[in-house]
Amino acid sequence: MKFSLAAVALAATTPIANALNILISNDDGFTSSNIRATYQALKTAGHNVYLIASTTNMSGHGGQFDFSTDPKLTADTEFGDFKAGSPVIGHEESDNHIWYFNGTPAACVGVGLDYVIPRFFSNATIDLVVAGPNEGANAGNALYQLSGTIGAANFAIDRGYPAIAFSAQYDNHSYYKDGWLPNKDNKQYYSNIYADKVVELVATLEQSAGENPQLLPLGVGLNVNFPYVGDVAESTYNMTCTNPEYVFTRMSPAGIAWSCFFNETTGAFDWLDLTPNDLQGANMPYNGDLTLPGETVISGPQTCKSSISVFTVDYDAPLLVNNKVHSLLTPVLKG
Ligand SMILES: *[C@@H]1O[C@H](CO)[C@@H](O)[C@H](O)[C@H]1NC(C)=O
Ligand SMILES: *[C@@H]1O[C@H](CO)[C@@H](O)[C@H](O)[C@H]1NC(C)=O
Ligand SMILES: *[C@@H]1O[C@H](CO)[C@@H](O)[C@H](O)[C@H]1NC(C)=O
Ligand SMILES: *[C@@H]1O[C@H](CO)[C@@H](O)[C@H](O)[C@H]1NC(C)=O
Ligand SMILES: *[C@@H]1O[C@H](CO)[C@@H](O)[C@H](O)[C@H]1NC(C)=O
Repeated sequence: MKFSLAAVALAATTPIANALNILISNDDGFTSSNIRATYQALKTAGHNVYLIASTTNMSGHGGQFDFSTDPKLTADTEFGDFKAGSPVIGHEESDNHIWYFNGTPAACVGVGLDYVIPRFFSNATIDLVVAGPNEGANAGNALYQLSGTIGAANFAIDRGYPAIAFSAQYDNHSYYKDGWLPNKDNKQYYSNIYADKVVELVATLEQSAGENPQLLPLGVGLNVNFPYVGDVAESTYNMTCTNPEYVFTRMSPAGIAWSCFFNETTGAFDWLDLTPNDLQGANMPYNGDLTLPGETVISGPQTCKSSISVFTVDYDAPLLVNNKVHSLLTPVLKG
């Protein structure tokens, strides 16, 4: 990230971005409408964007770091763009910035940072890692742990890159050639609205950073959730919502989590949704600003608001909690 002072002054009054090197991934696959729309919007805003994502839906893989050790794809990519037998990693013929890899989201970010960028892009310095926008919300503690999109962001944050996980209520698993591509000039199309919000947030961070090359403090990430937007034709959606404003939130209280129960009729297990009352541990406030609204509330289905929560990858308990538990363990501790 390089600035001239004149460019910074210009950026403060206009949304024209200085070029950042942005690596983008997701957990829905490299052909998802949301990631393609966002790739294009960030590019149009002037950034150098490198897309690398999984060959298929890898939803729910969390931070799992797993990839195929086969040199070839053992199956076609999800919507058939690349056939079994193609190299395990590759890029679109028409765009060498759009890559697939047969690995989990965290592994895709890893292979992007450690192989694609050094080998094919002169070891460019990545200024920001963007994950998503995910097809479906990732709000609250349980989804923080489960989401491959947040897992991809966490991998990058661990490595010292600023990263933002974006997720959206609308969860259609839309192939970009069916979804985004026919709608690429439609400003009401949900993927385009989400993509523009990503561009807006990136521009804001860039302007706030000024000449500081670090967009966010080390070890820190953002979890962003978008509501239903635009002209998706379903009555539950807020069709008038085309520019959901950002609200600063906290990650807890938890929204949802699950249990499983044994169905006596079928002799099999089934899912059971838990309520916030069942999640007293997840709702225990220790960190952050307790006066902020929870992200699960802000980005919920009937709102026209986007939540932004800040998290760190330092999972140690705060000092008071740490000391309290330390005293419980004293008899067994040597050092
Ligand atoms: C994506 O994968 C997850 C986890 O395996 C699964 O629950 C979900 O139904 C899949 N989505 C689609 C659209 O295939
Ligand atoms: C790429 O850059 C990083 C950090 O600047 C450096 O540690 C690494 O050795 C470089 N790799 C190559 C292949 O030049
Ligand atoms: C939802 O996804 C399917 C599969 O790609 C696609 O045919 C459909 O157009 C999508 N819906 C929208 C609103 O994008
Ligand atoms: C729908 O979005 C509009 C903004 O576009 C907002 O004013 C309105 O409150 C939203 N409706 C609901 C039910 O949240
Ligand atoms: C158990 O499964 C049966 C058959 O699918 C279903 O009708 C019933 O609602 C299930 N029970 C519960 C408590 O979900």
